[in-house]
Amino acid sequence: MRHLIDPLDFTLEETKNILDLADRIKQNPDAYSHVADGKRIATLFYEPSTRTRLSFESAMLSLGGQVIGFAGAEMSSASKGETVADTSRVVSCYADIIAMRHPKEGAPLVASMYSSIPVINAGDGGHNHPTQTLIDLMTIRQLKGHLDNITIGFCGDLKFGRTVHSLVNSLVRYKNNRFYFISPDELKVPAYTIEDTLKPYNSEYYEVSNLEETLPKLDVLYMTRVQKERFFSEDEYLRLKDTYILNREKLNLAKPDMPVLHPLPRVDEISTDVDDDNRAAYFKQVQNGKYVRMAVIMALLEITDPLTGQKVL
Ligand code: NCD
Repeated sequence: MRHLIDPLDFTLEETKNILDLADRIKQNPDAYSHVADGKRIATLFYEPSTRTRLSFESAMLSLGGQVIGFAGAEMSSASKGETVADTSRVVSCYADIIAMRHPKEGAPLVASMYSSIPVINAGDGGHNHPTQTLIDLMTIRQLKGHLDNITIGFCGDLKFGRTVHSLVNSLVRYKNNRFYFISPDELKVPAYTIEDTLKPYNSEYYEVSNLEETLPKLDVLYMTRVQKERFFSEDEYLRLKDTYILNREKLNLAKPDMPVLHPLPRVDEISTDVDDDNRAAYFKQVQNGKYVRMAVIMALLEITDPLTGQKVL
C-alpha cells in the first residue's frame, strides 16, 4: 500500500505518470467519471482550508466516489483528546482513502503508520504539501513546457510556507534549476532546506531581499502569503505581512512569459490589478488542482486508467 506524505514518495517517473494522467483527465473527464464508483474518501481537516478540502472532495465525486469527513479539529474527537493514530485506525473502517491536513508537522505520517488505507498529506504544519507541489509542477510544465533549466523565484514567507519547502524538494530533482529566495531576513528559507535539499543536489541558489531587482532574471515567480497562523507574535506578523506586494507596475520588470504562481489564499501580496495579466497563473493552478487530486486518488487506490489500460504506479 502506498501513501503520499512527502513529494519524494513518488519517483521522478511516477511523478511524470501522475502529471500525464492529470492531463488526460483534464482532456477527457467523462472517461473517468465512474472509475471510483463505490469508493470513499475521508477528508480529515484539523486546519482551515477552502481549495484543498473542496478539491479533494470534488475530485472524488468526479471519479464517481463518495465523501465523508470533518472540517475543523473542534468538530472531531480530537477535541476530546483522541490521537491521530486512533482516529486513522477508526476512519480506516469507514473509508478507502484519507486526505489529512494537520497543524503539526508529521501528523499525516503518523496516521499512515496506523491506518489500513492510503493516506494523503494535505498539508502538515510548515512542512510539506505534496499535492500542491504536483499542482505547481503541472502548471509550470503546462506553461513552460519543461521542469528543468528554470530560474524560479520564491517570494514572501519562505520560513513557514510549506508549499515552498515541498516544491523546492521536488524541483531540485530536475536538472539545472536555479533558485532565488526573496524574503525579509526573518522569513528566510529554513536551514534544513539549504543543508538537506539544495546542497546535496548542488543546486544554484541565492538568498536576496529585493523583488524588483530579481524579477527580470526569473522564468517563474512563486508568490506566497505570510503565514499568520504560524507566528508567535501578532506585532511581528503585522510588521512583515506587506513586505512584498506584486502589482502591475512591478510586473513590467519581468519577462513577458514569466508565469506568476501562488498557492492561494492571497491576502495583499498580489494586487488584483495583476489578475488580468496573461502571466497570472494562480487560478490555472486551482483548476489543475482537481485533476491532480483525481490522479493521485486513482494512483493510490490502484485504479486502472481506462484510456491506457494501465495502473499509474
Ligand atoms: C496553502 C497551504 O495551505 O499551505 N494553501 C493551499 O493549500 N493552496 C498556502 C497558504 O495557506 O498560504
